[in-house]
Amino acid sequence: MHLHASPFDLQGRAAFISGASSGIGLHTARMLAEAGAAVALAARRTDRLEAVAAELRSAGHRACAVALDVTDATAIAPAWRAAEAALDQPIDILVNNAGVIHVARFVEQSPEAISRVFDTNLKGAYLMAQEAARHMVARGRGSIINIASSSGLRAGGQMSSYGASKAGLIHLTQIMALELAGKGVRVNAIAPGNIETDMHAEFAGRGIEEGILRRIPMRRFGKPSDLDGAMLLLASDAGRYMAGAVIPVDGGQVLSWM
Ligand code: NAI
Repeated sequence: MHLHASPFDLQGRAAFISGASSGIGLHTARMLAEAGAAVALAARRTDRLEAVAAELRSAGHRACAVALDVTDATAIAPAWRAAEAALDQPIDILVNNAGVIHVARFVEQSPEAISRVFDTNLKGAYLMAQEAARHMVARGRGSIINIASSSGLRAGGQMSSYGASKAGLIHLTQIMALELAGKGVRVNAIAPGNIETDMHAEFAGRGIEEGILRRIPMRRFGKPSDLDGAMLLLASDAGRYMAGAVIPVDGGQVLSWM
């Protein structure tokens, strides 16, 4: 116990990060571990996750890897239990991060693509948050951080399934916050703009980077580490009076219309 502990300190806490094998999830798992939390890294394939968890443990952190496909409703509760058993403590923080994108014109979005995007980004996040909320409500404490998108706040061409799933996640965040705030569980969302990851390459790697950059007031794409401040704020006691907030972290992009 520090005499002058920072409100951002996560010592003694445990976090579950979905979609932790790459991009924002992988970076955030490392960052939360460095901030003092025990971390459970969850994704469909565990080979890479096991290596990251081992690397974190050898650096003195507490970490484990769990296999989880968020589109498999039956896999979520066992994954949560496995994470708590491996870390040997209850989980206080969910980073609801697993997500996929499908870039295509509205009329060309296939039923399979629409299902994949909705089942992962909206239903998967919904079921994950339900599982987390059940445990957190029982303990009267917890923070759920939904990773939404600026695409859920503004219309973006060729992103109808993705944007609709993220707009849904933002609405879900607000209703969850409403129902759970009185039970000690805070639910908030981060709406990242263009963050350089595999997903971003899929979206922007079509020769449209310059056009996107012109609409970002800071004139640069973000890095996963640009989300650290918002992530730590929502995860820790520093954000203790926040419920239902949707924080854009996007270099000002949602403000810009020309
Ligand atoms: P990414 O593609 O590197 O990471 C997505 C992660 O989710 C991967 O680890 C992937 O394996 C995992 N995942 C996908 N489907 C899954 C499933 N069914 N079960 C479990 N895990 C699954 O992309 P990035 O950028 O790191 O994305 C992370 C989150 O951030 C996503 O929710 C995305 O929508 C959101 N986001 C990303 C932005 C960007 O510009 N990169 C902007 C706004 C939001």
